[in-house]
Amino acid sequence: MTPLVEIHGLKKRYAPKNGAGEGNLAVKGISLSIQKGEIFSLLGPNGAGKTTTISIMSGLIAPTEGDVIIGGHSITKNAVAVKKLIGVVPQEIALYPELSARTNLEFFGRLQGLGGAALAKRCDEVLEFIGLRDRQRERIDTFSGGMKRRVNIGVGLLHKPTLVFMDEPTVGVDPQSRRSILDAVKALNQQGMTVLYTTHYMEEAEELSDRVGIMDHGELIALGKQIELIQQTGVKDAIILKLPSEHIEAAQTLLRALPVISNVEVDSDHSDKLHLLSDRGRQALPHVIRALDEANMIPTAIQISEPNLESVFLHLTGRALRD
Ligand SMILES: Nc1ncnc2c1ncn2[C@@H]1O[C@H](COP(=O)(O)OP(=O)(O)O)[C@@H](O)[C@H]1O
Ligand SMILES: [Mg+2]
Repeated sequence: MTPLVEIHGLKKRYAPKNGAGEGNLAVKGISLSIQKGEIFSLLGPNGAGKTTTISIMSGLIAPTEGDVIIGGHSITKNAVAVKKLIGVVPQEIALYPELSARTNLEFFGRLQGLGGAALAKRCDEVLEFIGLRDRQRERIDTFSGGMKRRVNIGVGLLHKPTLVFMDEPTVGVDPQSRRSILDAVKALNQQGMTVLYTTHYMEEAEELSDRVGIMDHGELIALGKQIELIQQTGVKDAIILKLPSEHIEAAQTLLRALPVISNVEVDSDHSDKLHLLSDRGRQALPHVIRALDEANMIPTAIQISEPNLESVFLHLTGRALRD
């Protein structure tokens, strides 16, 4: 199947400040494709090059090298055709603060070629979808961060795009708005929309994505389904047990002997905690409990920690995503 989006060797060098030096190579040669119907996340820390990539894909800035093909059209050669297919929700909120939510939607809808009854109907639908029908006549500058975000998203949906780009749509919103934005992304996808979502929040990429591309310093350092990426790191599940201090040594010996456990170490900061490594933490846990029980040792706390996208990032870069 031909992918909906193909990014080919994309590079972007920004013009140097004050004309001095080479300029920042913000995107260093990215290639990936996105299938129709996917939620694809670009995950990476601030400055990774996510917004630069989205801006090129939206036709806002030109690439230094490479191209993006969307629905068979090149963004560098036929941006008009691409723009009909895409809805863009920019990272920076782009609304008129002194106008109402509805007037903003009407304004941007007209820019996208909508008008008359069709525009009115579409504004009704979008306001309903973003949950702001009751507040549609109120000015944007009276809205919370989360409400502004939702209007920003609404603008990107007005012309019913095939594909929507959402660039960090949950930054600076309250938890409730974040929840409603993530649910909206899933609902759009269920209606058949393909979504390119960028975030520096590992949990969001984890919750939403069919596939993930991890970006760092302008490069795509990992690409695939979450489970594949996690397996590639070889990071094991950890079971962390808290035990009465007098049992730690005996428990360590006992648990090391279990075939389901590959390693047991005492926590470097807490002498009453053991870290057990296993290929399958959840399956190993009953064996661990049984062995301890038979030796009359009762853990006072148990925690399973499974590798996630954060572990993948740490494994590949040696840094935490949050740094
Ligand atoms: N207009 C610009 N001019 C020069 N450098 C820029 C510009 N926009 C972004 N950059 C730089 O490009 C790099 C990538 O930025 P960006 O694409 O915004 O990353 P992200 O969205 O992942 O946080 C950063 O080092 C940033 O400072
Ligand atoms: Mg950004």
